[in-house]
Amino acid sequence: MSSKQQHDIPDGLNEEYYQISADILGSFNKYRPPLNIFRFKEDVARIMPYYKVGGRLTNEQVEELQTLTKDGVIFVSREDHPVYVKHISYQLDLVLVDKNLKEKETADIFTQALTRKLKEFFDQPVPMVFEKLWVDLMVLTEYLYADIRRARALVRRMHKEHSLENHSLNSGFLGLALFGKIKEKTFKEGVRRKTFDRLAAGLFLHDLGMAKVPAFIRSKDKPLTGDERSKVNNHTKVGYEMLGKLNLRYPEVEQCVTDHHERLNGSGYPMKTTEIEFPGRLCAVADSFCAMISDRPHSPGLPYLKAAADLAADPRYDKDINKALQSLLMLDMKFKA
Ligand SMILES: [Fe+2]
Ligand SMILES: [Fe+2]
Repeated sequence: MSSKQQHDIPDGLNEEYYQISADILGSFNKYRPPLNIFRFKEDVARIMPYYKVGGRLTNEQVEELQTLTKDGVIFVSREDHPVYVKHISYQLDLVLVDKNLKEKETADIFTQALTRKLKEFFDQPVPMVFEKLWVDLMVLTEYLYADIRRARALVRRMHKEHSLENHSLNSGFLGLALFGKIKEKTFKEGVRRKTFDRLAAGLFLHDLGMAKVPAFIRSKDKPLTGDERSKVNNHTKVGYEMLGKLNLRYPEVEQCVTDHHERLNGSGYPMKTTEIEFPGRLCAVADSFCAMISDRPHSPGLPYLKAAADLAADPRYDKDINKALQSLLMLDMKFKA
């Protein structure tokens, strides 16, 4: 029996409040929690304010609060969702212990945490910064590996505005959701956690070589000069070299990084190869789709279904992966409009 039932907390309460766990409470500043705290009072069967932001709890209250939290009667308001999301995004493993978050709230937290970690890594692409990104990435893969359908809620959180970190996050979210769609029936028995982790890393990091391309070239909205173009086109090779320093020489990661611009008819770059392994073909669809839907300074992104239809009509991309993309989007009312 859950503590909620023990205390006979009315239904509907969880629409307005999160019940918080001892782990989450322990992650707050003990005396000055970052958001308002409420207590369910059984005798009046109502939620009452317990602590207001800006105040300070006494030692006795700190102790009492711990006990009440264990009893399952301490709540925070869903109105404080932005504060709560931000707080958890800095200690992402809390996502896995918090049973009170809704799927879309969890998706918000992953979006914030991973976009920030990706940006930090692209700003400073060294192993020390990468380690922190990796830790959060492994929280995500643990969350998704338990139920790959959860990736669909992440796709709804993809960024519209273009930047290297936004694009990388989008490609990671979408690529994993596509992978889940393709493996729908065999995911549980057929996919090893290690393979999944490495594929995820490859999808999120496919453009890591772009971190070495000067930002003014990356964000330039006029045509690139020949020299600038060759710097950009070199990003798959540069990325491959960076993988060595990050100890990420795994086939799934390498194939995403080196092959996401290769095309099935040999018209891609840099190798112009027609033999592209699955991670490279998956990453090509995820990467191209995410480029097509994102807003640039002078061109708004395409609607999702239009972008997916354009890709499906393009024989340079894997047919089955394109099909999975279309059915993934069709499942979701949000993208039908
Ligand atoms: Fe790329
Ligand atoms: Fe890309």
